[in-house]
Amino acid sequence: TGTLRLAVIPGDGIGQEVTAEALKVLEAAAPAGVKFEPTRYDLGAERYLATGEVLPDSVLAEIREHDAILLGAVGGKPGDPNLPPGILERGLLLRLRFELDHYVNLRPSRIFPGVTSPLANPGEVDFVVVREGTEGPYTGNGGSIRVGTPHEVATEVSLNTAYGVERVVRDAFARAQRRPRQKLTLVHKTNVLVHAGAVWSRLVAEVGREFPDVTVDYLHIDAATIFMTTDPARFDVIVTDNLFGDIITDLAGAISGGIGLAASGNINPDRTAPSMFEPVHGSAPDIAGQQIADPTAAILSASLLLDHLGHPEAAAVIEDAVVADLAERTPATTRRTPEVGDAIAARVAG
Ligand code: NAD
Ligand code: IPM
Ligand code: MN
Repeated sequence: TGTLRLAVIPGDGIGQEVTAEALKVLEAAAPAGVKFEPTRYDLGAERYLATGEVLPDSVLAEIREHDAILLGAVGGKPGDPNLPPGILERGLLLRLRFELDHYVNLRPSRIFPGVTSPLANPGEVDFVVVREGTEGPYTGNGGSIRVGTPHEVATEVSLNTAYGVERVVRDAFARAQRRPRQKLTLVHKTNVLVHAGAVWSRLVAEVGREFPDVTVDYLHIDAATIFMTTDPARFDVIVTDNLFGDIITDLAGAISGGIGLAASGNINPDRTAPSMFEPVHGSAPDIAGQQIADPTAAILSASLLLDHLGHPEAAAVIEDAVVADLAERTPATTRRTPEVGDAIAARVAG
């Protein structure tokens, strides 16, 4: 019982459209005695273009005081000369992940009954990618010199700390331990990225001694994309760095019935700050404003949010409603974004 304070950041493009549906379903799923108190933050392209603000410190401080964050997507119109790439992605999304220490970027993939995979014989797909969320090539550890000249030099150095790798690896092992198949696959590129690779390999071996029930496997990232398309059922828990995890989870979404179904949680397992839940997809400028985006990924992200806040039954109600809705979708079903949200919310309400 009590009040759950949610910071809601719909963001840009279809982020606005799908977040409205996720909130609708969340409200319908509120456990007895729980009241959601959403606070909406108008961060994103529009605010930046109007005011130059991306994520003011005072707003970040306010967001910190919430129980969880629900985010849609960020990213403005492609090619807008007033909005260079990275301003919002780094300044808003990554800043939230870094400042709130979202070191576990949790991205589950399952082929739900009735959902068509582009793979002819995908098998029983049910895995989760534990993507490191605060390090790797994402930290901004780089720079440019001689910009615009033929001698320009640009670096983007991948940061891998033993502290950062160990904590995400331990979280991934703990998740593998709790799952029926108890399997962990490290995905990296240790044959080329030998410095970072050594840290990841060593810590997987070391932490693995604490989890003797978990079978450990290793794949290079390139080969992992092969197996994700030829035999995705082999995966249980995948642990990987920030960039490999970004790439492989778009692929995971695609093989599991589409990016419109792929949910994620940016988790701070130590609970020193609110965790953030968002679809894996972006602002989809190509379809924004038409109310044709699939809100399912955002709705499933709301289910992950409830689970994280200690309401697994309510989370399961949302997931069951999504599963039931998916089972009745046919390629011919063309519903608008709010119709999908309404249908799932109605099932949740029972
Ligand atoms: P995208 O995920 O926005 O779109 C890729 C393709 O998938 C597009 O064809 C789009 O129409 C389709 N798609 C995505 N979500 C869908 C949904 N719910 N229903 C139906 N179709 C859907 O990726 P992109 O085009 O590479 O990036 C667009 C912008 O979004 C960029 O500015 C990028 O930086 C940003 N982005 C933000 C996030 C985030 O906020 N978490 C994630 C990815 C990309
Ligand atoms: C994602 C996105 C982000 C990422 C971008 C927009 C910073 O692609 O959430 O997958 O690379 O993490
Ligand atoms: Mn991505």
